[in-house]
Amino acid sequence: MSAPSAPAAQPAHADSARIRVRSLGKRYGALEVFRNIEFDVGAREIVAIVGPSGCGKTTLLRCIDGLLPHDTGDIWVGDARVEEPIAGVAMVFQHFGLFPWKTVFDNVAYGLRMAGAARTEIERKVPEFIKMVGLAGFEKAFPYQMSGGMQQRCGLARALAVEPSVLLMDEPFAAVDAQTREILQFELLRIWQERPTAMIFVTHSIEEAVLLGHRVIVLKGRPSSIHEIVEIDLPGPRTRATLQLPRFAELRERVWGTLMREAREAEFQLERA
Ligand SMILES: Nc1ncnc2c1ncn2[C@@H]1O[C@H](COP(=O)(O)OP(=O)(O)OP(=O)(O)O)[C@@H](O)[C@H]1O
Ligand SMILES: [Mg+2]
Repeated sequence: MSAPSAPAAQPAHADSARIRVRSLGKRYGALEVFRNIEFDVGAREIVAIVGPSGCGKTTLLRCIDGLLPHDTGDIWVGDARVEEPIAGVAMVFQHFGLFPWKTVFDNVAYGLRMAGAARTEIERKVPEFIKMVGLAGFEKAFPYQMSGGMQQRCGLARALAVEPSVLLMDEPFAAVDAQTREILQFELLRIWQERPTAMIFVTHSIEEAVLLGHRVIVLKGRPSSIHEIVEIDLPGPRTRATLQLPRFAELRERVWGTLMREAREAEFQLERA
């Protein structure tokens, strides 16, 4: 059920799938969170996921990260079936997830140290990624000395430093102000252009999903499942000018309509109960 697409270039997911999710189901005891989730993410593709609060977006990312066991179905990252955390998958959390007692340098170095990187490699790579996210000069700062936006840049550098082939982002910009959020969205797009990966980006912002995603997955229902996958046939690279395109507005309205229909149905069900 994709949007009618322009006779455009090859869709981004047409390249080899980096992530494959098949018949995925997850419950917490009596609560069935989602069922029959199926999608692919290409090696150079950003897939955005939107859906009502509590529909299982964080749970889905944690299953793909191997942090949580799933109940039914399969997840593959490349040739590896996900049953526990695997190398090459990095996650950026909503609330930064930094170690408060470590400096920016040591936070960014963390994943590399865990992976057993040599000291010389750490000393070469960490400043490179700190610079990439615009934090040069703050190597010795602690998280409490930085703004929310700077902390999120640090979280991003930490994830990028391990040079992941899969980047999982759970509402990474939700806790920063609107202006910083916009800056970070375009920074992320710039970094992704430099080093494309398979990325899943969970957000509550429809605008952000349409701006960043090559496809937007809309989750719905209880238990939730995929309601629609909207192909975002906007030209790349996406810039501020993208926000002014009539097609951008059309796609945003389309995703909005799908989500709002869902929210209204849920409201009516509550009224009837
Ligand atoms: N560890 C847990 N044990 C039991 N239930 C859980 C657990 N974690 C989440 N849940 C429940 O599972 C459902 C999905 O939660 P999840 O956090 O994945 O939703 P979400 O889509 O990320 O929500 P939000 O948009 O608010 O972040 C919710 O009903 C939540 O209460
Ligand atoms: Mg969540």
